[in-house]
Amino acid sequence: MTTNGPMILCDNLVKIYKVQDLEVVALQGLDLIVDRSEFMAIIGASGSGKSTLMNILGGLDHPSAGKAIVDGQDLLKLSTVALTRYRREKVGFVWQQPARNLIPYLSVRENVELPMIVSGMATNERQEWSRELLEAVGLWERRDHSLSQLSGGEQQRTAIGVGLANKPVLLLADEPTGEVDTSTAQTIMDTLRHLNETYGLTIVMVTHDVRASAQVDRVVTIRDGRTSSERVRRLRGEESNNGSSAEANGHGEGPDDNGQEQEGDAYHEYVVLDYAGRLQLPREFLEKLGISDRAQVDLTEEGILIRPAAGLNDTSAQAARLSDMAEQWGPQNRSRGLRGRLDGAGRGLRSIFKRSDTDEKAGDES
Ligand SMILES: Nc1ncnc2c1ncn2[C@@H]1O[C@H](COP(=O)(O)OP(=O)(O)OP(=O)(O)O)[C@@H](O)[C@H]1O
Ligand SMILES: [Mg+2]
Repeated sequence: MTTNGPMILCDNLVKIYKVQDLEVVALQGLDLIVDRSEFMAIIGASGSGKSTLMNILGGLDHPSAGKAIVDGQDLLKLSTVALTRYRREKVGFVWQQPARNLIPYLSVRENVELPMIVSGMATNERQEWSRELLEAVGLWERRDHSLSQLSGGEQQRTAIGVGLANKPVLLLADEPTGEVDTSTAQTIMDTLRHLNETYGLTIVMVTHDVRASAQVDRVVTIRDGRTSSERVRRLRGEESNNGSSAEANGHGEGPDDNGQEQEGDAYHEYVVLDYAGRLQLPREFLEKLGISDRAQVDLTEEGILIRPAAGLNDTSAQAARLSDMAEQWGPQNRSRGLRGRLDGAGRGLRSIFKRSDTDEKAGDES
């Protein structure tokens, strides 16, 4: 570890692809902080920008604007030469198709050792590290097999070994279980977890796999090229801490973009604030409250209260929606809006939004 601070810091990250005359905004102000030794997953609909983010973090693509700092290195400021070096030394990549990491006519061990040879690792160190790695991914017994003699899961685990050959601080995996059956996917997840725990390896994994995303420490959802919400696995014993479990899962994602199911009580659900305090409110909340371009924000004892701006958004359609809601939530809650509460615990700034049920000040506003 060369630096302190988080492993990954993305602030207002933008990536624009130019295709002929068209501009595709693949990331539009994405914020993300990943701690060292974290094992986290990124989910989101097809086209939401997951692979774009991975390619930027992996040094395969240049960001257009914003900040992307990995292990203290600012990817926007790296020259092409420095970026190549970064790609070789700092990050390992695992793809959906293991073949992308592998050379078919080499054995398992030769594949894993090749990047070490290219980077000039001393022979002793190379032999020791490749043995250790092959044991860590459970392939030492098969070290001399050719790739065609391996199952899909074994090929992917070889690919993980190749990704880690140069001892990167960060492993990026873009749908590593995307092409395999459930039990094979589990062996891949077990291998990743083992590497995370044994070496303190930071792992960022893109996945559509509900089972896989249920096994990581934190799941971040990207929507339209931005971080929109995140779920953090609750520590054991935290369950009955305060009344926040219901609110935590209150807005949920779904069955969402990915057909993801809620993970029940195992996770807190947060919306993410960027450094400037901006956040993306759940669209369904805004629609329910009829909040469009402006909202009224007040600091209350319980937290930050966000509600439709009186007189500005109060068109008849919105008023009708509000009265629907008032019925749904009970008269004492009319026009109270959403209550946000800043939570200092955990990573960075986050806020939890909850539907208010009881409040001593309810009478003030109805
Ligand atoms: N090289 C490229 N040139 C032009 N547009 C691109 C390029 N790569 C990605 N895009 C566009 O950027 C957007 C985000 O794509 P990206 O591949 O990051 O999505 P994704 O979340 O990984 O989707 P999927 O789940 O299907 O893999 C899409 O609109 C895509 O068409
Ligand atoms: Mg992708």
